[in-house]
Amino acid sequence: MKTLIIYASKHGTTGEVAERVSRLIGINKCRVVNIDEEILPSLSKFDSVIIGGSIYFGHIQKKIQRFCEIYTEELLQKRVGLFICCMKRQAERFEFNNAFPSVLIDHATAKGIFGGEFKFENLNFVEKLVVRKNIGINKSVRRINAQSINHFAILMQ
Ligand SMILES: Cc1cc2nc3c(=O)[nH]c(=O)nc-3n(C[C@H](O)[C@H](O)[C@H](O)COP(=O)(O)O)c2cc1C
Repeated sequence: MKTLIIYASKHGTTGEVAERVSRLIGINKCRVVNIDEEILPSLSKFDSVIIGGSIYFGHIQKKIQRFCEIYTEELLQKRVGLFICCMKRQAERFEFNNAFPSVLIDHATAKGIFGGEFKFENLNFVEKLVVRKNIGINKSVRRINAQSINHFAILMQ
């Protein structure tokens, strides 16, 4: 069983989670691809595809959105896992449902909302302002849900 893990990450958290999922499934069974930095391999080589991104201003990265739209039909022929990293607990379900096409969500074997983190020192001025005002946090916080990641990886094994 070969698994492709495609992700987008602005400050590294989703990348870290993607690597963690690959270790849990087995690094020799997985290929991890950062959609911003690498050329996508052909999906035909994989039985399973995991897609993950992080939420900014309510939305997942555009490249992840486009990937899901373009490859919906092909993805429906495979086992699919979908996950997001995000920090607004009260909005996370809505953000997940908004991040991926509903047909893919219905088809997915595993769905994950893994929490996230704010690395305050890495945020630019505007990002700091937004995080303070909209999310009410003004220091670095890490809130990754390890249990959800483990459960997700078991379902995708
Ligand atoms: C400027 C900014 C806006 C954000 N907007 C949201 C948001 O609308 N909803 C949410 O749940 N999390 C939001 N987050 C939290 C991120 O989703 C979280 O920090 C995530 O771990 C980032 O992952 P990444 O480093 O892989 O990009 C925001 C973070 C920043 C810095």
